[in-house]
Amino acid sequence: RRSPPGSFVIFGGGGDLTRRLLLPAIYNLACAGLLDDGFSVVAVDRAELTDAQLQRNVRAALEDFAARRGAEAVTLREDIWAWMQPRIRYVRGDFESMQTYQDIAAVVGDQNCIFYLAVAARFFGPIVDRLGEAGLVREGRHTFRRVIVEKPFGNDLPSAVALNERLLHTLTEQQIYRIDHYLGKETVQNILALRFSNGFFEPLWNRQNIDHVQITAAETVGVEQRAKFYEGTGALRDMVPNHVMQLLAMTAMEAPISFDADAVRNEKTKVLDAIHPLLPQDVVRGQYAPGVVGGKEVPGYRQEPGVDPHSLTETYMAMKFQIDNWRWAGVPFYVRTGKRLAARKTEIAIHFKSAPYALFRDTPVEKLAPNIMVIHIQPTEGVTMQFSAKIPGPSVRLGGVRMKFDYAEWFSEGPSTGYETLIYDCMIGDATLFQRADNIEAGWRAVQPVLDWGQDARSLDFYAAGSEGPEAADALLARDHRHWLKIG
Ligand code: BG6
Repeated sequence: RRSPPGSFVIFGGGGDLTRRLLLPAIYNLACAGLLDDGFSVVAVDRAELTDAQLQRNVRAALEDFAARRGAEAVTLREDIWAWMQPRIRYVRGDFESMQTYQDIAAVVGDQNCIFYLAVAARFFGPIVDRLGEAGLVREGRHTFRRVIVEKPFGNDLPSAVALNERLLHTLTEQQIYRIDHYLGKETVQNILALRFSNGFFEPLWNRQNIDHVQITAAETVGVEQRAKFYEGTGALRDMVPNHVMQLLAMTAMEAPISFDADAVRNEKTKVLDAIHPLLPQDVVRGQYAPGVVGGKEVPGYRQEPGVDPHSLTETYMAMKFQIDNWRWAGVPFYVRTGKRLAARKTEIAIHFKSAPYALFRDTPVEKLAPNIMVIHIQPTEGVTMQFSAKIPGPSVRLGGVRMKFDYAEWFSEGPSTGYETLIYDCMIGDATLFQRADNIEAGWRAVQPVLDWGQDARSLDFYAAGSEGPEAADALLARDHRHWLKIG
Protein backbone atom coordinates (compact mmCIF):
# COMPACT_ATOMS: atom_id res chain seq x y z
CA ARG A 1 0.00 0.00 0.00
CA ARG A 2 1.26 3.45 -0.92
CA SER A 3 2.06 6.03 1.74
CA PRO A 4 -0.38 8.92 2.11
CA PRO A 5 0.66 12.08 0.19
CA GLY A 6 2.63 14.70 2.07
CA SER A 7 5.92 16.46 2.68
CA PHE A 8 8.90 14.89 4.31
CA VAL A 9 10.72 17.85 5.83
CA ILE A 10 14.31 17.15 6.88
CA PHE A 11 15.99 19.51 9.32
CA GLY A 12 19.68 18.92 8.64
CA GLY A 13 18.86 18.23 5.00
CA GLY A 14 22.49 18.87 4.01
CA GLY A 15 23.93 16.59 6.68
CA ASP A 16 25.59 13.25 6.69
CA LEU A 17 22.66 11.18 7.96
CA THR A 18 20.46 12.63 5.23
CA ARG A 19 22.97 11.80 2.53
CA ARG A 20 23.97 8.37 3.72
CA LEU A 21 20.70 6.98 4.99
CA LEU A 22 17.55 9.08 4.65
CA LEU A 23 17.69 9.95 0.95
CA PRO A 24 18.76 6.44 -0.06
CA ALA A 25 15.87 5.08 2.02
CA ILE A 26 13.43 7.39 0.25
CA TYR A 27 14.85 6.34 -3.10
CA ASN A 28 14.43 2.68 -2.15
CA LEU A 29 10.83 3.33 -1.08
CA ALA A 30 10.22 4.99 -4.45
CA CYS A 31 11.73 1.97 -6.22
CA ALA A 32 9.39 -0.28 -4.24
CA GLY A 33 6.43 1.82 -5.45
CA LEU A 34 5.48 2.77 -1.89
CA LEU A 35 5.44 6.55 -2.27
CA ASP A 36 2.40 8.52 -3.38
CA ASP A 37 2.63 10.91 -6.32
CA GLY A 38 1.83 13.66 -3.85
CA PHE A 39 5.02 12.98 -1.92
CA SER A 40 7.82 15.54 -1.66
CA VAL A 41 11.05 16.08 0.23
CA VAL A 42 11.83 19.46 1.74
CA ALA A 43 15.42 19.80 2.94
CA VAL A 44 16.03 22.53 5.51
CA ASP A 45 19.56 23.65 6.30
CA ARG A 46 21.82 26.63 6.73
CA ALA A 47 23.89 26.54 3.52
CA GLU A 48 23.01 28.80 0.56
CA LEU A 49 21.63 26.40 -2.05
CA THR A 50 19.12 26.53 -4.88
CA ASP A 51 16.66 23.71 -5.51
CA ALA A 52 18.71 22.72 -8.55
CA GLN A 53 21.97 22.57 -6.60
CA LEU A 54 20.33 20.51 -3.89
CA GLN A 55 18.91 18.14 -6.49
CA ARG A 56 22.39 17.67 -7.93
CA ASN A 57 23.77 16.89 -4.46
CA VAL A 58 20.97 14.43 -3.83
CA ARG A 59 21.66 12.64 -7.07
CA ALA A 60 25.34 12.37 -6.16
CA ALA A 61 24.42 11.02 -2.72
CA LEU A 62 22.11 8.45 -4.24
CA GLU A 63 24.79 7.31 -6.64
CA ASP A 64 27.15 6.88 -3.69
CA PHE A 65 24.88 5.31 -1.16
CA ALA A 66 21.52 4.13 -2.43
CA ALA A 67 22.23 2.06 -5.43
CA ARG A 68 24.00 -0.60 -3.49
CA ARG A 69 23.19 -4.12 -2.61
CA GLY A 70 25.76 -4.93 0.05
CA ALA A 71 29.10 -4.00 -1.46
CA GLU A 72 27.87 -4.43 -5.00
CA ALA A 73 26.93 -1.23 -6.83
CA VAL A 74 23.75 -1.11 -8.88
CA THR A 75 23.06 1.67 -11.38
CA LEU A 76 20.69 4.39 -10.28
CA ARG A 77 17.27 3.93 -11.88
CA GLU A 78 16.68 6.92 -14.18
CA ASP A 79 12.89 6.46 -14.13
CA ILE A 80 12.90 6.76 -10.36
CA TRP A 81 15.22 9.75 -10.42
CA ALA A 82 13.01 11.47 -12.98
CA TRP A 83 10.10 10.97 -10.57
CA MET A 84 12.05 12.08 -7.50
CA GLN A 85 13.95 15.11 -8.77
CA PRO A 86 11.03 17.57 -9.13
CA ARG A 87 9.80 16.49 -5.70
CA ILE A 88 12.92 17.77 -3.92
CA ARG A 89 12.83 21.31 -2.56
CA TYR A 90 15.17 23.37 -0.43
CA VAL A 91 14.47 25.86 2.34
CA ARG A 92 17.48 27.79 3.58
CA GLY A 93 17.34 28.97 7.14
CA ASP A 94 18.55 29.04 10.67
CA PHE A 95 16.89 26.41 12.90
CA GLU A 96 16.22 29.01 15.57
CA SER A 97 14.76 31.75 13.38
CA MET A 98 10.97 32.13 12.95
CA GLN A 99 11.51 33.15 9.33
CA THR A 100 12.64 29.60 8.52
CA TYR A 101 9.37 28.21 9.80
CA GLN A 102 7.32 30.70 7.83
CA ASP A 103 9.24 29.66 4.72
CA ILE A 104 8.55 26.00 5.47
CA ALA A 105 4.87 26.74 5.99
CA ALA A 106 4.73 28.42 2.59
CA VAL A 107 6.19 25.32 0.92
CA VAL A 108 4.19 22.61 2.70
CA GLY A 109 0.79 24.33 2.78
CA ASP A 110 -1.83 22.38 4.68
CA GLN A 111 -0.93 18.87 3.65
CA ASN A 112 0.42 15.99 5.74
CA CYS A 113 3.93 16.57 7.08
CA ILE A 114 6.65 14.60 8.70
CA PHE A 115 9.39 16.70 10.26
CA TYR A 116 12.59 14.72 10.58
CA LEU A 117 15.12 16.10 13.08
CA ALA A 118 18.43 14.96 11.55
CA VAL A 119 20.31 17.58 13.54
CA ALA A 120 22.54 17.79 16.61
CA ALA A 121 20.57 16.95 19.74
CA ARG A 122 20.78 20.50 21.11
CA PHE A 123 18.37 21.59 18.35
CA PHE A 124 15.61 19.05 19.14
CA GLY A 125 13.93 21.23 21.76
CA PRO A 126 14.27 24.58 19.95
CA ILE A 127 13.03 23.18 16.61
CA VAL A 128 9.96 21.60 18.18
CA ASP A 129 9.24 24.81 20.11
CA ARG A 130 9.40 26.83 16.87
CA LEU A 131 7.29 24.29 14.97
CA GLY A 132 4.69 24.77 17.66
CA GLU A 133 4.88 28.56 17.65
CA ALA A 134 4.56 28.61 13.86
CA GLY A 135 1.45 26.43 14.05
CA LEU A 136 3.16 23.80 11.91
CA VAL A 137 2.29 20.83 14.09
CA ARG A 138 -1.43 21.51 14.31
CA GLU A 139 -3.19 18.56 12.70
CA GLY A 140 -6.25 18.99 10.51
CA ARG A 141 -9.29 16.76 10.47
CA HIS A 142 -7.71 14.70 7.71
CA THR A 143 -4.07 15.68 7.87
CA PHE A 144 -1.30 14.62 10.19
CA ARG A 145 1.77 16.38 11.49
CA ARG A 146 4.46 14.08 12.91
CA VAL A 147 7.99 14.59 14.18
CA ILE A 148 10.76 12.01 13.96
CA VAL A 149 13.45 12.53 16.59
CA GLU A 150 16.90 11.03 16.07
CA LYS A 151 19.21 9.88 18.80
CA PRO A 152 20.81 10.76 21.16
CA PHE A 153 17.59 11.31 23.07
CA GLY A 154 19.09 12.94 26.17
CA ASN A 155 22.44 12.02 27.67
CA ASP A 156 21.18 10.58 30.94
CA LEU A 157 17.86 9.90 32.64
CA PRO A 158 17.13 13.45 33.87
CA SER A 159 17.90 15.04 30.48
CA ALA A 160 15.78 12.43 28.66
CA VAL A 161 12.89 13.15 31.03
CA ALA A 162 13.35 16.89 30.48
CA LEU A 163 13.43 16.48 26.69
CA ASN A 164 10.27 14.36 26.77
CA GLU A 165 8.55 17.05 28.83
CA ARG A 166 9.64 19.75 26.44
CA LEU A 167 8.47 17.89 23.34
CA LEU A 168 5.20 16.90 24.99
CA HIS A 169 4.53 20.54 25.72
CA THR A 170 4.07 21.11 21.97
CA LEU A 171 3.24 17.66 20.61
CA THR A 172 1.09 14.76 21.65
CA GLU A 173 2.81 11.42 22.25
CA GLN A 174 1.11 10.12 19.08
CA GLN A 175 2.89 12.78 17.01
CA ILE A 176 6.37 11.86 18.28
CA TYR A 177 8.40 9.12 16.58
CA ARG A 178 11.64 8.55 18.49
CA ILE A 179 13.88 6.59 16.23
CA ASP A 180 16.25 3.78 17.10
CA HIS A 181 17.63 2.54 13.82
CA TYR A 182 18.20 -0.94 15.27
CA LEU A 183 14.44 -1.40 15.15
CA GLY A 184 14.57 -0.94 11.39
CA LYS A 185 16.82 -3.95 10.98
CA GLU A 186 14.98 -6.94 9.57
CA THR A 187 16.56 -9.39 11.95
CA VAL A 188 15.71 -7.29 14.98
CA GLN A 189 12.09 -7.30 13.91
CA ASN A 190 12.45 -10.99 13.32
CA ILE A 191 13.13 -11.62 17.02
CA LEU A 192 9.46 -11.03 17.73
CA ALA A 193 8.36 -13.01 14.67
CA LEU A 194 10.54 -15.90 15.72
CA ARG A 195 9.33 -15.91 19.30
CA PHE A 196 5.67 -15.24 18.76
CA SER A 197 4.78 -16.89 15.48
CA ASN A 198 6.21 -20.29 16.34
CA GLY A 199 5.13 -22.91 18.80
CA PHE A 200 8.43 -24.36 19.79
CA PHE A 201 10.61 -21.53 21.07
CA GLU A 202 8.37 -19.83 23.57
CA PRO A 203 7.73 -22.84 25.86
CA LEU A 204 11.51 -23.03 26.42
CA TRP A 205 11.99 -19.28 26.73
CA ASN A 206 12.33 -18.99 30.50
CA ARG A 207 14.44 -19.62 33.58
CA GLN A 208 13.61 -23.32 33.66
CA ASN A 209 15.39 -23.91 30.36
CA ILE A 210 17.69 -20.97 29.69
CA ASP A 211 21.00 -20.72 31.52
CA HIS A 212 21.95 -17.23 30.36
CA VAL A 213 21.83 -14.86 27.41
CA GLN A 214 24.71 -13.04 25.68
CA ILE A 215 24.07 -9.94 23.62
CA THR A 216 26.94 -8.66 21.50
CA ALA A 217 27.15 -5.53 19.35
CA ALA A 218 30.73 -5.48 18.15
CA GLU A 219 32.22 -3.15 15.57
CA THR A 220 35.60 -3.07 13.87
CA VAL A 221 35.48 0.65 13.13
CA GLY A 222 37.07 3.09 15.53
CA VAL A 223 35.81 6.53 16.44
CA GLU A 224 36.24 7.70 12.81
CA GLN A 225 35.58 11.43 12.32
CA ARG A 226 33.28 11.66 15.33
CA ALA A 227 35.75 12.36 18.16
CA LYS A 228 34.01 15.57 19.13
CA PHE A 229 30.70 13.81 19.65
CA TYR A 230 32.14 10.57 20.99
CA GLU A 231 34.45 12.09 23.62
CA GLY A 232 31.43 13.42 25.47
CA THR A 233 29.34 10.32 24.81
CA GLY A 234 31.25 7.03 24.99
CA ALA A 235 30.13 3.50 24.28
CA LEU A 236 27.64 3.32 27.13
CA ARG A 237 25.49 6.29 26.10
CA ASP A 238 26.03 5.69 22.39
CA MET A 239 24.87 2.08 22.29
CA VAL A 240 23.40 0.71 25.51
CA PRO A 241 20.26 2.58 26.63
CA ASN A 242 19.04 2.54 23.05
CA HIS A 243 20.23 -0.23 20.68
CA VAL A 244 21.34 -2.83 23.22
CA MET A 245 18.30 -2.27 25.42
CA GLN A 246 16.06 -2.75 22.39
CA LEU A 247 17.68 -6.11 21.71
CA LEU A 248 17.35 -7.07 25.35
CA ALA A 249 13.73 -5.99 25.51
CA MET A 250 12.78 -7.88 22.35
CA THR A 251 14.46 -11.00 23.70
CA ALA A 252 13.05 -10.82 27.20
CA MET A 253 9.62 -9.18 26.88
CA GLU A 254 6.36 -11.03 27.49
CA ALA A 255 4.06 -11.71 24.54
CA PRO A 256 2.08 -8.53 23.81
CA ILE A 257 -1.69 -8.90 23.61
CA SER A 258 -1.52 -7.72 19.97
CA PHE A 259 0.96 -6.22 17.54
CA ASP A 260 -0.50 -2.85 18.20
CA ALA A 261 2.12 -0.14 18.88
CA ASP A 262 1.07 0.42 22.46
CA ALA A 263 0.66 -3.26 23.28
CA VAL A 264 4.22 -3.96 22.13
CA ARG A 265 5.66 -0.91 23.82
CA ASN A 266 3.89 -1.67 27.11
CA GLU A 267 5.64 -5.02 27.29
CA LYS A 268 9.02 -3.56 26.40
CA THR A 269 8.82 -0.96 29.11
CA LYS A 270 7.66 -3.54 31.61
CA VAL A 271 10.68 -5.74 31.09
CA LEU A 272 13.14 -2.83 31.10
CA ASP A 273 11.60 -1.59 34.32
CA ALA A 274 12.26 -5.03 35.83
CA ILE A 275 16.04 -4.70 35.36
CA HIS A 276 17.80 -4.94 38.68
CA PRO A 277 19.92 -1.86 39.51
CA LEU A 278 23.46 -2.47 38.25
CA LEU A 279 26.29 -3.10 40.70
CA PRO A 280 29.86 -1.87 40.07
CA GLN A 281 31.23 -5.42 39.96
CA ASP A 282 28.89 -6.22 37.08
CA VAL A 283 30.22 -3.50 34.78
CA VAL A 284 33.38 -3.37 32.65
CA ARG A 285 34.46 -0.20 30.85
CA GLY A 286 37.15 -0.52 28.20
CA GLN A 287 39.07 1.64 25.77
CA TYR A 288 40.96 0.47 22.71
CA ALA A 289 44.74 0.68 22.63
CA PRO A 290 46.76 0.44 19.40
CA GLY A 291 46.42 -2.86 17.60
CA VAL A 292 45.72 -4.57 14.30
CA VAL A 293 42.36 -4.60 12.56
CA GLY A 294 41.92 -6.46 9.29
CA GLY A 295 45.68 -6.87 8.94
CA LYS A 296 46.27 -3.12 9.34
CA GLU A 297 47.91 -1.37 12.26
CA VAL A 298 45.59 1.14 13.83
CA PRO A 299 46.10 3.74 16.55
CA GLY A 300 44.63 3.55 20.01
CA TYR A 301 41.63 5.70 20.93
CA ARG A 302 43.80 8.27 22.72
CA GLN A 303 45.85 8.76 19.57
CA GLU A 304 42.85 9.38 17.33
CA PRO A 305 42.50 12.92 15.92
CA GLY A 306 40.43 15.11 18.19
CA VAL A 307 40.67 12.79 21.21
CA ASP A 308 42.21 13.95 24.49
CA PRO A 309 45.48 11.99 24.96
CA HIS A 310 44.36 11.25 28.54
CA SER A 311 40.75 10.56 27.64
CA LEU A 312 38.75 8.42 30.04
CA THR A 313 35.95 7.90 27.55
CA GLU A 314 35.05 4.23 27.12
CA THR A 315 34.85 2.60 23.71
CA TYR A 316 33.70 -0.73 25.14
CA MET A 317 31.16 -1.81 27.76
CA ALA A 318 30.33 -5.21 29.16
CA MET A 319 27.59 -5.63 31.72
CA LYS A 320 25.67 -8.28 33.55
CA PHE A 321 21.99 -7.48 33.83
CA GLN A 322 19.52 -9.35 36.00
CA ILE A 323 15.81 -9.15 35.33
CA ASP A 324 13.62 -9.33 38.38
CA ASN A 325 10.53 -11.11 37.16
CA TRP A 326 9.09 -14.63 37.17
CA ARG A 327 10.35 -15.52 33.72
CA TRP A 328 13.96 -14.45 34.18
CA ALA A 329 14.91 -14.44 37.86
CA GLY A 330 18.41 -15.91 38.11
CA VAL A 331 19.13 -15.80 34.35
CA PRO A 332 21.90 -13.29 33.66
CA PHE A 333 21.85 -11.24 30.48
CA TYR A 334 25.47 -10.45 29.63
CA VAL A 335 25.82 -7.65 27.13
CA ARG A 336 28.88 -6.20 25.46
CA THR A 337 29.44 -3.58 22.83
CA GLY A 338 32.56 -1.92 21.54
CA LYS A 339 34.53 -0.39 18.76
CA ARG A 340 37.71 -1.81 17.20
CA LEU A 341 36.90 -5.38 18.14
CA ALA A 342 37.91 -8.55 16.32
CA ALA A 343 34.92 -8.56 13.96
CA ARG A 344 31.74 -6.71 13.13
CA LYS A 345 29.08 -8.83 14.70
CA THR A 346 25.74 -8.17 16.34
CA GLU A 347 24.04 -11.21 17.78
CA ILE A 348 21.95 -12.58 20.59
CA ALA A 349 23.00 -15.97 21.94
CA ILE A 350 20.50 -17.87 24.05
CA HIS A 351 22.40 -20.48 26.07
CA PHE A 352 20.10 -23.29 27.14
CA LYS A 353 20.67 -25.49 30.15
CA SER A 354 22.40 -28.75 29.41
CA ALA A 355 20.83 -32.20 29.60
CA PRO A 356 20.08 -33.01 33.25
CA TYR A 357 22.17 -36.13 33.50
CA ALA A 358 24.94 -38.07 31.79
CA LEU A 359 23.47 -40.92 29.79
CA PHE A 360 26.48 -41.26 27.55
CA ARG A 361 29.37 -42.74 29.48
CA ASP A 362 32.09 -41.35 27.28
CA THR A 363 30.67 -37.85 27.26
CA PRO A 364 29.84 -36.44 30.68
CA VAL A 365 27.30 -33.64 30.82
CA GLU A 366 30.01 -30.96 31.12
CA LYS A 367 31.54 -32.17 27.87
CA LEU A 368 28.33 -32.07 25.84
CA ALA A 369 28.19 -29.29 23.27
CA PRO A 370 26.19 -26.50 24.89
CA ASN A 371 22.77 -25.91 23.35
CA ILE A 372 22.88 -22.41 21.98
CA MET A 373 20.51 -20.57 19.72
CA VAL A 374 22.18 -17.58 18.10
CA ILE A 375 20.12 -14.89 16.46
CA HIS A 376 22.49 -13.19 14.01
CA ILE A 377 21.57 -9.57 13.47
CA GLN A 378 24.52 -8.46 11.33
CA PRO A 379 26.50 -8.76 9.15
CA THR A 380 25.04 -12.22 8.51
CA GLU A 381 21.33 -12.40 9.16
CA GLY A 382 19.80 -15.59 10.37
CA VAL A 383 19.57 -18.08 13.19
CA THR A 384 21.91 -20.89 14.19
CA MET A 385 21.12 -23.73 16.56
CA GLN A 386 23.96 -25.58 18.16
CA PHE A 387 23.44 -29.01 19.75
CA SER A 388 24.97 -32.46 20.17
CA ALA A 389 24.78 -35.33 17.72
CA LYS A 390 26.32 -38.74 17.45
CA ILE A 391 29.58 -38.85 15.57
CA PRO A 392 29.23 -41.59 12.94
CA GLY A 393 31.03 -44.81 13.82
CA PRO A 394 30.64 -47.97 15.86
CA SER A 395 31.19 -46.34 19.25
CA VAL A 396 28.82 -43.79 20.76
CA ARG A 397 30.68 -40.52 20.67
CA LEU A 398 29.05 -37.13 20.62
CA GLY A 399 30.03 -33.95 18.86
CA GLY A 400 28.66 -30.41 18.54
CA VAL A 401 26.77 -29.64 15.30
CA ARG A 402 25.06 -26.58 13.86
CA MET A 403 21.81 -26.03 12.03
CA LYS A 404 21.55 -22.75 10.19
CA PHE A 405 18.83 -20.56 8.76
CA ASP A 406 20.29 -17.88 6.54
CA TYR A 407 18.07 -14.97 5.52
CA ALA A 408 19.83 -14.41 2.22
CA GLU A 409 19.26 -18.02 1.20
CA TRP A 410 15.53 -17.89 1.81
CA PHE A 411 14.52 -14.40 0.89
CA SER A 412 15.81 -12.10 -1.78
CA GLU A 413 15.10 -8.57 -0.71
CA GLY A 414 16.05 -5.31 -2.39
CA PRO A 415 18.75 -3.03 -1.01
CA SER A 416 17.94 -1.51 2.34
CA THR A 417 19.48 1.01 4.69
CA GLY A 418 17.23 -0.07 7.56
CA TYR A 419 15.51 3.32 7.46
CA GLU A 420 12.93 2.36 4.83
CA THR A 421 10.67 0.51 7.25
CA LEU A 422 10.92 3.26 9.84
CA ILE A 423 10.16 6.11 7.45
CA TYR A 424 7.34 4.19 5.83
CA ASP A 425 5.85 3.23 9.21
CA CYS A 426 5.85 6.86 10.27
CA MET A 427 4.06 7.79 7.04
CA ILE A 428 1.32 5.24 7.68
CA GLY A 429 1.14 6.13 11.37
CA ASP A 430 2.45 2.88 12.81
CA ALA A 431 4.58 3.64 15.86
CA THR A 432 5.33 0.04 16.85
CA LEU A 433 9.00 0.33 15.90
CA PHE A 434 9.47 3.71 17.58
CA GLN A 435 10.17 4.37 21.21
CA ARG A 436 7.54 5.82 23.45
CA ALA A 437 8.62 8.29 26.16
CA ASP A 438 8.55 5.61 28.85
CA ASN A 439 10.65 3.19 26.72
CA ILE A 440 13.39 5.76 26.35
CA GLU A 441 13.33 6.59 30.04
CA ALA A 442 13.41 2.91 31.03
CA GLY A 443 16.53 2.42 28.87
CA TRP A 444 18.28 5.31 30.56
CA ARG A 445 17.15 4.19 34.01
CA ALA A 446 18.85 0.82 33.46
CA VAL A 447 22.26 2.43 32.84
CA GLN A 448 21.94 5.47 35.08
CA PRO A 449 23.84 3.84 38.01
CA VAL A 450 26.96 3.65 35.83
CA LEU A 451 26.62 7.30 34.87
CA ASP A 452 26.19 8.21 38.53
CA TRP A 453 29.45 6.50 39.51
CA GLY A 454 31.28 8.76 37.06
CA GLN A 455 34.39 7.96 35.08
CA ASP A 456 37.79 7.52 36.57
CA ALA A 457 41.02 5.90 35.51
CA ARG A 458 40.44 2.90 37.81
CA SER A 459 37.30 1.93 36.02
CA LEU A 460 38.92 1.80 32.58
CA ASP A 461 40.44 -1.38 31.13
CA PHE A 462 42.41 -1.29 27.91
CA TYR A 463 42.19 -3.77 25.06
CA ALA A 464 44.20 -4.03 21.89
CA ALA A 465 42.35 -2.86 18.79
CA GLY A 466 41.23 -5.94 16.86
CA SER A 467 40.97 -8.10 19.99
CA GLU A 468 38.02 -9.71 21.78
CA GLY A 469 37.85 -6.85 24.31
CA PRO A 470 39.36 -6.28 27.76
CA GLU A 471 40.32 -9.21 29.98
CA ALA A 472 38.06 -7.87 32.67
CA ALA A 473 35.10 -8.73 30.43
CA ASP A 474 36.23 -12.35 30.34
CA ALA A 475 36.63 -12.30 34.10
CA LEU A 476 33.05 -11.03 34.46
CA LEU A 477 31.77 -14.30 32.97
CA ALA A 478 34.53 -16.55 34.35
CA ARG A 479 33.32 -15.55 37.83
CA ASP A 480 30.04 -17.27 36.96
CA HIS A 481 31.86 -20.23 35.29
CA ARG A 482 30.85 -19.06 31.86
CA HIS A 483 32.60 -17.60 28.86
CA TRP A 484 31.77 -15.36 25.94
CA LEU A 485 31.24 -16.74 22.45
CA LYS A 486 34.14 -15.62 20.28
CA ILE A 487 33.66 -12.46 18.25
CA GLY A 488 36.42 -12.95 15.67
C1 BG6 B 1 24.98 4.45 16.07
C2 BG6 B 1 26.15 4.84 16.94
O1 BG6 B 1 23.78 4.77 16.73
O2 BG6 B 1 25.04 3.08 15.82
C3 BG6 B 1 27.45 4.48 16.25
O3 BG6 B 1 26.12 6.23 17.20
C4 BG6 B 1 27.45 3.02 15.85
O4 BG6 B 1 28.57 4.77 17.07
C5 BG6 B 1 26.18 2.67 15.10
O5 BG6 B 1 28.57 2.80 15.03
C6 BG6 B 1 26.07 1.19 14.87
O6 BG6 B 1 25.03 0.93 14.00
P1 BG6 B 1 25.06 -0.28 12.99
O7 BG6 B 1 23.77 -0.20 12.28
O8 BG6 B 1 26.28 -0.11 12.13
O9 BG6 B 1 25.20 -1.49 13.87
